Amino acid sequence: MNFSAIPRERLPELIRRSPKAELHIHIEGSLEPEMIFALATKNQVRLNYASVEALRQACAFTDLQSFLDLYYAGASVLRDDDDFYAMAMAYFRRAAADGVVRAELFFDPQTHTERGVPIRSVILGLVRACDEARRDLGISAGLIMCFLRHLSEESALQTLHDALPLRQHLLGVGLDSSERGNPPEKFARVFEACRALGLHCVAHAGEEGPPAYIESALDVLKVERVDHGVRCLEDAALVQRLSREQVPLTVCPLSNIKLCVFASMAKHNLATLLRAGLCVTVNSDDPAYFGGYVLRNYTALFDALPELGPRDAWQLARNSLQASFAEPAEKEAWLRQLDAVFASA
Ligand code: HPA
Ligand code: ZN
Repeated sequence: MNFSAIPRERLPELIRRSPKAELHIHIEGSLEPEMIFALATKNQVRLNYASVEALRQACAFTDLQSFLDLYYAGASVLRDDDDFYAMAMAYFRRAAADGVVRAELFFDPQTHTERGVPIRSVILGLVRACDEARRDLGISAGLIMCFLRHLSEESALQTLHDALPLRQHLLGVGLDSSERGNPPEKFARVFEACRALGLHCVAHAGEEGPPAYIESALDVLKVERVDHGVRCLEDAALVQRLSREQVPLTVCPLSNIKLCVFASMAKHNLATLLRAGLCVTVNSDDPAYFGGYVLRNYTALFDALPELGPRDAWQLARNSLQASFAEPAEKEAWLRQLDAVFASA
């Protein structure tokens, strides 16, 4: 492939046409303010925001916790399986327009079961959307059930127990919410149980938490991918290990700026991570809150980092497909399509 012959101006179009996997999207974080208000009215949930505009204005975050407070308030409007279905379908339609061919959706059952919503409504609503996305949009999708790390391991174990009758609908499990003070070790037993069930394991680590959390996610939870992981650069030995083992990192550029992990996109370390040989992927995290879906995350990066070029765009899309938990035959087909996009450029 002759990447150097491709003009930089063509990147937005090429990235859009490239088949991509989105591996770090909290589906509750795709709830746009308009849908939050519509569901609040439908379900008679009182919101502390007077209007869609007021809710949008509240999206000025200082750190992860300031975001999570708003995110959990937004998710409180979801009540029945139709709500979960509608939320996920709205996401899938946007993802399809961005060229996403594979989406592995995080969802937070404890946020809903704590309010009396049955886990069955959550999962079956999302499953209905995944089936429709495959049939009508050509998106291959899977569900990753996340445990909230600010809650106890007992609560996570109970959640796993409650989800067991629906095990067939789960691709894997993850770990999210407030990172600092809630190290991966806290969830050693529940992840061990998940591995025994044959579930894929991922965890947020090294977003706000230290590099040691990335190491314990790998060594204690035995995760196959690290969500965020951007703070790995503070530990050279860890970077070497991540490179050697090709552990995928699901990086979320716009999220990192909104949550003040980096002061600006020009200061983002994604190019450094790529040059260190890491298997970096680009994702949207909570697109309704952070200013854009996956394509915006790519274009914001390429706009801000002049050292990134066409080969990097190809590499990032390729990494996302390879790091997904999709079937090998599906991956092979997407990888061929990706090469065709760049070969004809
Ligand atoms: N980090 C941790 N927990 C989350 C996030 C995040 O970026 N988004 C939704 N839950
Ligand atoms: Zn996340």
